[in-house]
Amino acid sequence: MSEKNTLIQELETLQAKAEAKLASLSGEVALAKWKTEYLGKASPVMQVFKRLPEASKEERSQIGQFANQVKTVLEQSFELKAETARQATLAEALKSEQLDVTLPGRAPLNGRLHITTQTLREIYRIFAEMGFQIYRSPEVESDENNFELLNIPPHHPARDLWDTFFTKKEGVLLRTHTSPGQVRAKREFASEPIRVVLPGMCYRYEQTDASHEFQFNQVELLVVGKHITFANLKGTLQEFAERMYGKGVRTRIRPSYFPFVEPGAEMDVECFVCSGKGCPVCKQRGWLEILGCGMVHPVVLKNGGYDPKVYSGFAAGLGPERISMLRYHIDDIRNFWANDVRFLEQF
Ligand code: DAH
Repeated sequence: MSEKNTLIQELETLQAKAEAKLASLSGEVALAKWKTEYLGKASPVMQVFKRLPEASKEERSQIGQFANQVKTVLEQSFELKAETARQATLAEALKSEQLDVTLPGRAPLNGRLHITTQTLREIYRIFAEMGFQIYRSPEVESDENNFELLNIPPHHPARDLWDTFFTKKEGVLLRTHTSPGQVRAKREFASEPIRVVLPGMCYRYEQTDASHEFQFNQVELLVVGKHITFANLKGTLQEFAERMYGKGVRTRIRPSYFPFVEPGAEMDVECFVCSGKGCPVCKQRGWLEILGCGMVHPVVLKNGGYDPKVYSGFAAGLGPERISMLRYHIDDIRNFWANDVRFLEQF
């Protein structure tokens, strides 16, 4: 048999084998493999072109032509098969990812302000209407500002009221209350009159439970000037309570102790759930404690740069989380910073 016939026969067998194999394949990976095997550089068809010199001169062009023809046919068959495979994949995807266009749309998720931010802004609004400005001060404080200048010297038993997170740096701690902001405001403004709200996060080294968190917000009030009296304190706080809890709400002031005020007091509002009759929210007392307050202690005024013989002032501290808890009957303070949307989206 001549070289021509051998090669041509080989090509015919090859074509038949390749076509049969192609017909049996499915899937894009298998197809790609087939292409390398039968049309790649090392494939038998391509090898035929290399073997052409083995044939006589006259036969070469005939074999070459035939090999080209086989190559073209295989390429066309491949394209056809590949297209069919692509269509099948698409049809499959359309079927499995079918959309039900009659389903109602998904409502977009709207972000919102954290409940404490809402309460804080309401408090700012009320005090802004009474002429108070917001004064921000750092959460990382010195022992001096947080305690000493507030009339709580080292080793004073009053320090036990504030379980404190100390940092590794001597004399630096996380503020346990917003009262150190008082010192900063006074030192900045002395001896101008002051009317500020000092809001922000405070930290205490607490075992957490339903009513204790190791981080929470406070809002401090500070008024300093000439002739500021306890009557101003009462009037301001009563006005705040009415704007926050409703016109005519009754309040009462009980004596209490805080080292930075003298006299010191706590203010209660009449329970707004039962109007003072007694209920689970006020634990049958009829009153809810909402803040600590008092006349700024002369030592503290002096530490801030104000002469206590000329100036006087009052201060108060309240907890916005506590206000929200009472308002919305939230029974666990840990909800505020647990970051659970099921809780947060209710407000
Ligand atoms: N700083 C106090 C605390 O965290 C709260 C407080 C009480 C602030 C009386 C005041 C005040 O300004 O007059 O427990």
